[in-house]
Amino acid sequence: MEDLYKTLPQHTCTWLQGIMTLYKYQGFWNVQNFSQKTILAQSYKAQPSDILVCSCPKTGTTWLKALTFAIVTRKKFDELASPLLTTLPHDCVPFLENHLEKIQKNHSDFPIIATHLPYSSLPESVITSGCKIVYIYRNIKDVLVSYYHFVRELVNLPLEDASFEAAFDEYCQGISSSGPYWDHILEFWKASQEMPERFLFLKYEDLKKEPTSNVKRLAEFLGYPFSTEEEKAGVVENIIQLCSFGNLSTLEVNKSGKYQADEHFALEHRLFFRKAKDGDWENYFTNEMKEKIDKLIDEKLHGTGLVLK
Ligand code: A3P
Repeated sequence: MEDLYKTLPQHTCTWLQGIMTLYKYQGFWNVQNFSQKTILAQSYKAQPSDILVCSCPKTGTTWLKALTFAIVTRKKFDELASPLLTTLPHDCVPFLENHLEKIQKNHSDFPIIATHLPYSSLPESVITSGCKIVYIYRNIKDVLVSYYHFVRELVNLPLEDASFEAAFDEYCQGISSSGPYWDHILEFWKASQEMPERFLFLKYEDLKKEPTSNVKRLAEFLGYPFSTEEEKAGVVENIIQLCSFGNLSTLEVNKSGKYQADEHFALEHRLFFRKAKDGDWENYFTNEMKEKIDKLIDEKLHGTGLVLK
């Protein structure tokens, strides 16, 4: 791996005072050991019954993991007994790149796996197995603000020492964890055009605006549709409430404790729950920034019908 790292393009993030360096591996930026994690994850043997929850960081991964978990396990646990009440969603649904061993061990019992890997870096078996893939995306401006705070807190940098303007510039150059964000989306979108039956694209803002229809869509796509009796009994609403930001962010488990991303790195659970507010970007962006990023995303996603502005 040391030899590989030497060959990769590197970027030390100026807005983080040089605390973090990203490496470009297989077309996408990430921290150094993510390339090793990617290589290991590529050995995973996916099954047709697997459900892959895919996303770029800060687009609603935690929420989608919670919803998918609650939908798939609802016959086993009702909303009062759900493990989501006592376990971080990231520990309920493991990341392929972080917890490969655990996934392989529990494979026959539990079908949901999450990943931030770009489509082109997914294990070959994911492509050939025919398993289902759910992809969540979100307004780029809110993703950027969310990313700014998440990484800043991760490296313990106070607000006054982390220039938002510099973070914005790097993000617009595509340099961010799992970035360029638009390329991450585009790869999944292109694959979904070739195999529409295997993909469900969910937009964070739509999920917020119309949770009932989108959660029903998700359940149907996953092969766990709600029965008429369940709908009448309010199961859909109960799942929405269980997985809501208002509920999850106030649970003791999500306010304290640390998520062990790997044997070297842990991060506080609370960092996954910040504001969950649509349009928070307006508190950070100047008019020029807004115009620049809107133009950029228009150019990048032109012709896809995806709206990230
Ligand atoms: P903000 O930083 O804008 O608050 P990810 O899970 O991909 O890391 O994304 C994190 C973002 O999703 C954060 O956004 C976080 O607050 C928000 N989030 C976490 N749980 C959520 C939930 N249950 N419902 C809606 N948004 C949620």
